[in-house]
Amino acid sequence: MTERTRVAVIGAGPAGLLLSQLLHERGVDHVVLESRSREEIHTTHRAGILEAGSVRALVELGLDRVIREGDRHDGIDLRFDGEMHRIDFRELVGESVWLYPQTEVFADLAARRTEQGADIRWQTSVVEILDHDGANPGVRWRDAEGREGELRAELLVGADGSRSIARHAFPEQLRRTWVHEYPYAWFGVIVEAPRSAPELVYAESERGFALVSQRTPTHQRLYFQCDPDEDPDAWDDARIWTELQARVAGPDGFRLAEGPVEEKTVLRFRSSVVEPVRHGRLVLAGDAAHTVPPTGAKGLNLALADVLILAEVLEGWLAGAGDDALDEYGRRSSRRVWRAQNFSAWMSRMLHTTPDEPGFERRRRIAELRTLVESEAGRRYLAEGYTGWENVR
Ligand code: PHB
Repeated sequence: MTERTRVAVIGAGPAGLLLSQLLHERGVDHVVLESRSREEIHTTHRAGILEAGSVRALVELGLDRVIREGDRHDGIDLRFDGEMHRIDFRELVGESVWLYPQTEVFADLAARRTEQGADIRWQTSVVEILDHDGANPGVRWRDAEGREGELRAELLVGADGSRSIARHAFPEQLRRTWVHEYPYAWFGVIVEAPRSAPELVYAESERGFALVSQRTPTHQRLYFQCDPDEDPDAWDDARIWTELQARVAGPDGFRLAEGPVEEKTVLRFRSSVVEPVRHGRLVLAGDAAHTVPPTGAKGLNLALADVLILAEVLEGWLAGAGDDALDEYGRRSSRRVWRAQNFSAWMSRMLHTTPDEPGFERRRRIAELRTLVESEAGRRYLAEGYTGWENVR
């Protein structure tokens, strides 16, 4: 059986669900297909920082749990030479960010869309993209019971993450992928212990970078730079704590609050951008179109920003503007995407050591950090980028 809808959204992560919400508000019939279960997405740990603009967008949609239950952070600490250097976002740019894990953004959107009776098909994989270069594009799907079907639409949106199936429908010769690999990764842990510092601490050290983040009053999220091939099973709690404490140690006596390690994962670093983001009647959004390393906390924010632009552009297109009007989406989103690429790569390089890093290079990085924190212009540059360039046009 072939079904029809106006927009087929592939992927029910934050990007796909936000798009679903915006289409719903505009009265546009659509279907969302997601290969994973709702539970599986909700229990996969992801980054936790929302820019000011992302929070405003969620609140405007009535999704205000972020304000009630998220933690507003008015700054971060950069730590190097064993000392804290606070970057005060509010004083510098009048903005804040919110610590509110991506899984909560997902939960809020999924709950809202379910309440509104959305057609979201969990555990339904897209197995083939059909005729996306014609006027009657579609997808073939298969659900958890092995049933298969065909869904035809006017437009397909690939919001299916970094391992996007949708992206591969773009002809190889028309698709450029810009990729940058980093010679390091993050070892991420969730630990049962109260937070170690009031705000996030981005720490440079001779042994490599560490990030002190938070989750709840009883759990912390911590990361330390590691080799991309590091085996999490080779690290017991004692070894993890010794390494983390060594990376934040300093004359001020700063120490992390310790507790049992509940989860460990290695997060690979990769910057990538796919261009163009439209081919025929298929457009890409979020991680399907670009990925950033986690240092600047930009991934989720970029995905939400993409979708806000896409929904605006779709309004004109669905009202009858020609397909060229869809290219406005790529033109507008790519400025932010490349800005975020630069910001994430810059933060990453400034704070991480590399295997066999020359002594000169490390000293230069520390001088860069010192120049940054001792200059108001430098601190403002970081604050503008971290909070999301809200006051920069
Ligand atoms: C997190 O809390 O998971 C987190 C925070 C900031 C980052 C990356 C991850 O830059």
